Order: sequence, then structure tokens, then C-alpha cells
Amino acid sequence: MNGHATAQSGLHFDVIIVGAGISGINSAYHIQDQLPGFSYAILEAREDLGGTWDLFRYPGIRSDSDLFTFGFAFNPWNYSNPIADGPSIKQYIRETAQKYSIDKNILFRHHVSSANWSKADNTWSLAVDADGAPKTLTTRFMIFGTGYYDYKEALQAKIPGLDNFQGQIIHPQFWPEDLDYKNKKVVIIGSGATAITLLPNLANEAANVTMLQRSPTYIQSIPNRTNNRRLSCLLPTGLYHRLQRAIWIQRQRIFFLFCQCFPSISAWYLKLAYDPHFKPNYDPWDQRLCVCPDGDFFASLRSGKANVCTDTIKTVTKKGITLNAGEMLDADIIITATGLKLQIAGGVALTVDGENFDISSKYMWNGVMLQDLPNAAFVIGYTNASWTLGAEATAQCITRIIKTLESRKLVAAVPHVKDQDAPLLQERPMVQLKSTYIIDGPRVFPRASDRGPWLPRDHYGKDIRFATKGNLDDGLEFVQGPSLRLRKKLA
Ligand SMILES: Cc1cc2nc3c(=O)[nH]c(=O)nc-3n(C[C@H](O)[C@H](O)[C@H](O)COP(=O)(O)OP(=O)(O)OC[C@H]3O[C@@H](n4cnc5c(N)ncnc54)[C@H](O)[C@@H]3O)c2cc1C
Ligand SMILES: *[C@@H]1O[C@H](CO)[C@@H](O)[C@H](O)[C@H]1NC(C)=O
Ligand SMILES: *[C@@H]1O[C@H](CO)[C@@H](O)[C@H](O)[C@H]1NC(C)=O
Ligand SMILES: *[C@@H]1O[C@H](CO)[C@@H](O)[C@H](O)[C@H]1NC(C)=O
Ligand SMILES: *[C@@H]1O[C@H](CO)[C@@H](O)[C@H](O)[C@H]1NC(C)=O
Ligand SMILES: *[C@@H]1O[C@H](CO)[C@@H](O)[C@H](O)[C@H]1NC(C)=O
Repeated sequence: MNGHATAQSGLHFDVIIVGAGISGINSAYHIQDQLPGFSYAILEAREDLGGTWDLFRYPGIRSDSDLFTFGFAFNPWNYSNPIADGPSIKQYIRETAQKYSIDKNILFRHHVSSANWSKADNTWSLAVDADGAPKTLTTRFMIFGTGYYDYKEALQAKIPGLDNFQGQIIHPQFWPEDLDYKNKKVVIIGSGATAITLLPNLANEAANVTMLQRSPTYIQSIPNRTNNRRLSCLLPTGLYHRLQRAIWIQRQRIFFLFCQCFPSISAWYLKLAYDPHFKPNYDPWDQRLCVCPDGDFFASLRSGKANVCTDTIKTVTKKGITLNAGEMLDADIIITATGLKLQIAGGVALTVDGENFDISSKYMWNGVMLQDLPNAAFVIGYTNASWTLGAEATAQCITRIIKTLESRKLVAAVPHVKDQDAPLLQERPMVQLKSTYIIDGPRVFPRASDRGPWLPRDHYGKDIRFATKGNLDDGLEFVQGPSLRLRKKLA
């Protein structure tokens, strides 16, 4: 890309993006596209890009969303299967980064540990561990594309007696490459997307796989192919892909609204596709709805090699699990698919003029920036639609904020709750899902409120409208400073 300083050229960048997952790559595209001439770097702790799709390696790892909406808007998924496996998604992210020369701006093995904002300089200073060597980088604007969970540590599930177990205990986040489950008895604890993916994939080789769930989950079987051959012949390729994406966005939204408006009809519909004795104790979409491609989950149950057991654990023993109803589950391997350890901002310690900044006590401005934190944006996607649709709204909002700083000759933007408004704000959950690991975990997400720019994210159509046309002055304060332009003068 012309005008883009390569990441190697220095220690200061107009914009620094932390994380080379799908959100980081998407943000980088928008910076290049909307702010030509800006220097930027992506700092990535790992050795490769892809984030989630690089980290997770369990058998069958795949998306839960359709790739038409999960993929990049600017480089749409062009295959006919809506569900893709992990390696294909990583490959797609890599090819996209290469196609737009975003890969040249990624610094791998760069872990950011702290970021300090100086009001005097209107600049961020970042402490970075660059492959073992400490480095300080500076920037005007930070974008956190760091996802929502801890990469280094799995959630420690509270399972009574787990220490007694003499077989192997595996967490899906750290799947041993050489794990031999052939002819072994496997118990998967959990009922989320990971458990539902693992069950049919392990059942092929294992002696027996049991998914042990505390409470049932809604699972929707979706065909892993689209059949729009007529449309794809009639329309030019680019238009066809854009239309495909638009259709899937509406499909997700309509299904979500239907579930919210008619919880019992939709519960009935979803249960029809499932075993009649499964009765989730919540309405569809109160927790993330799980999908399975071509009914693989149900086919595996019918084959007799896999089962689902709904009960709670009394204790884990040397050789298996004793349930509260009295049953014993024998196991050689226990897989704890019980959730992730939530984390915002990739564990980066933030300070403003030397004072610690506590993310969970701050309100989020339009789902993009944090109250009292200058020039920093956080890519937090949707949980009841493809994550990346939310990431797209965030990226478009960020570029408009930076353009506004440029055009008004300002140096910083800071969300601010006015003193007279503070007592009026009623707290609302930032993420709507009621999954146990989100409800019971310690507070990590920022706050959302019932009004104004502090409302939680809504849906793609509305959030994109705000990102492109909304009133940025509502809740944002701007700082004047000596430098008129964010961008450094290119030599
Ligand atoms: C198994 C699994 C399946 C999923 N399936 C779906 C799905 O089908 N649909 C959906 O919408 N969502 C899904 N999600 C949620 C998923 O994580 C997001 O959709 C999406 O991949 C997140 O992308 P991201 O770029 O925001 O974050 P991530 O993919 O988590 O990437 C964050 C990156 O930031 C880097 N990083 C973090 N902290 C630092 C630091 N301090 N310094 C430097 N680098 C740092 C990490 O190394 C990582 O590369 C799934 C999640 C999991 C775990
Ligand atoms: C489809 O996308 C892939 C990955 O982005 C790319 O390599 C390929 O050329 C594309 N094919 C078509 C027909 O556009
Ligand atoms: C979906 O279909 C594609 C293309 O046929 C295939 O490669 C992929 O493995 C399928 N995914 C799943 C999870 O079944
Ligand atoms: C940021 O501040 C913290 C705490 O004051 C300090 O430990 C860290 O080294 C600082 N980082 C940089 C890059 O200055
Ligand atoms: C698998 O395990 C379940 C639960 O322990 C048991 O009911 C079932 O009979 C087992 N099936 C086989 C084939 O071992
Ligand atoms: C997600 O949930 C929120 C809160 O319930 C809702 O306002 C929003 O419309 C939902 N998003 C989608 C894409 O349906």
C-alpha cells in the first residue's frame, strides 16, 4: 500500500492495533482504506495471525456462524459452505491479509503488557515484549483487537473431585496435538458450541463419548451448503457475494427477533429437530444458539457411539464421574468444555497520567470507546450474531473518529459522562447472554447503561448507521493540542 510506513520503520505509529485476529485485520483494512498515509502496526503476541482460529486445535474445530456474515465485508467468503473448519478460516484470514498487504504491518511475537496515556504529550506509550526483548512503542491511537478471553489461562471449572481422576483431563483451549482417544471412553463436560462440535468428531474413533450437561442447549441443524446456483449465474460475482451476505444478515436478525417475540413457538420448533426429552430451562437466544452442520450431532447420537446425559456431578472418582442421580460414567479422558476465562483488552494494564485505569468500572461509549480513556477503541463484536458484524461497525466508527480529529485539527477524543448525567445512568448488561461462565465469572466487561451513547450495542443495521452518520459529539469530548495532524510527516 502506498504511503504506508512498514512496521519495521520505527517505534512510533499513528495507530497501533493490538491483535492479529479477524478483528485486528479488519480494523487494519479500514485504516488503510480510509486514512491513506497513516502509519500503523499490528502487534501480535503469537507467532501467527488468526487469533481464535490459530489457538484452538481440537478435532472438528469450526465456526458456529455462517461465514457469509462472519467473513470480511470487503473480501467476502466466496465458497458455498456457510460453516467452515478452523484451518480454512485461518487460511481465509491469511489470504485476506496478504491480498491487501496488511501482513507487512504485523509484528509477531510482540506481546503488549502495559499502555500509558500521557495528557501532556497526547500519546500512548506501550511496553512490549518483543520476542524476549523489552521495547517501548508509541502511538496516538490504540485499537484493541484482542478478543474477549485469556489466551494463556483456561477457565478453572469448579468440578468436585477432579483431582482424584487418574485418566487425562483436557481443556479444549490447550488440546494436545498427539492426544490418543482411539477406543477410549470420553466424557465431555459442558453443552456449549465446543462440546457440540467435539461430540460427533470424537465419536468416530473413541469407544464411547458422553456429553454431560447440567442443562440442555438449543441446537439448530443447518445445511452446510447454499444452493443459489441460479442467482450466482445471473449476477456478477462481486454483487452475488454482497447479496449473499445481506441475505444472511437479515436471516440471523429475523430468526433472533422471532425467538425473542415467540419464545415458546421457537423453543418448540428447535426441540422438534432435537430429542423430545431435552427441555432447556431458558428461551432460545438467551444463551448463544448452537448450530450443527448437516445434523452431524444428531447423526452421531443415533449411531449409538455418542450419548448425552443431563445431570449434575456429585464427584469425580479415579475412574470416572459419579452423578447426583446415582449413575456412574466411566472415563479414560475427561474434557472440560466449560467456558473461557473472560478478559478484555488482552490483559494490557492501562494508565492515564500514571493512574490505573479499571475497565470494568467504566461505561462504554457506543460499544467502541471507554469513558475517560482517550484515543483508545475496543473491538467487541456481537454475541447473538456474527462477532465480526460488530467488529465492522466498530472499525467504521473508529476511522470516522480519527477523520474527525484530523478535519477539526484536534489531537484526542475522550468519552465523558457529564456530572449531571452520572446519577441518571441505570446499569444494563453489556452482553446479553446468560451462559454460566459469563454470569458467574468475575466482572470483566465494561458497563453499559439504559440511555444515550452508553447503551449496549444493538444490531448491525443500527450500529453501522451510527458508525457512518451518528453524532460523535454526543458523549465525546475533544482535546486540542499542538500537533494539527495525527499522522507524522512522511519524509
Ligand atoms: C472455539 C471458538 C469458536 C468460535 N466461533 C465463533 C463463531 O462461529 N462466530 C462468531 O461470531 N464468533 C465465534 N467465536 C468468538 C470468536 O472468538 C470471535 O468471533 C472472533 O474470532 C474473535 O476475533 P478477534 O480478532 O476479535 O479476537 P481473537 O480471535 O481472540 O484474536 C485476538 C488476538 O489478539 C492477540 N492478543 C491478545 N492480547 C494481546 C496482547 N496483550 N498483546 C499482543 N497480542 C495480544 C491474541 O494473541 C490474538 O491473536 C468463537 C470463539 C471460540 C473460542
Ligand atoms: C475466493 O477467495 C479466496 C480467498 O480469499 C481466493 O484465494 C480466491 O481467489 C477467491 N476465488 C474467487 C473465484 O474469487
Ligand atoms: C462444510 O462443507 C465444506 C465444503 O463441502 C467442507 O469442506 C467442510 O468440511 C464442511 N464443514 C463441516 C463442519 O462439516
Ligand atoms: C506504564 O506504567 C506502568 C506503571 O506505572 C509501568 O510499570 C510501565 O513500565 C509503564 N510503561 C511504559 C511503556 O512506560
Ligand atoms: C456409553 O456410555 C454410556 C454412559 O455411561 C452407556 O450408557 C452406554 O451403554 C455406553 N455405550 C457403549 C457402546 O459402551
Ligand atoms: C442482540 O441482543 C440485543 C439485546 O437483546 C438486541 O437489542 C439486538 O437486536 C440483538 N442483535 C441481533 C443481531 O439481533
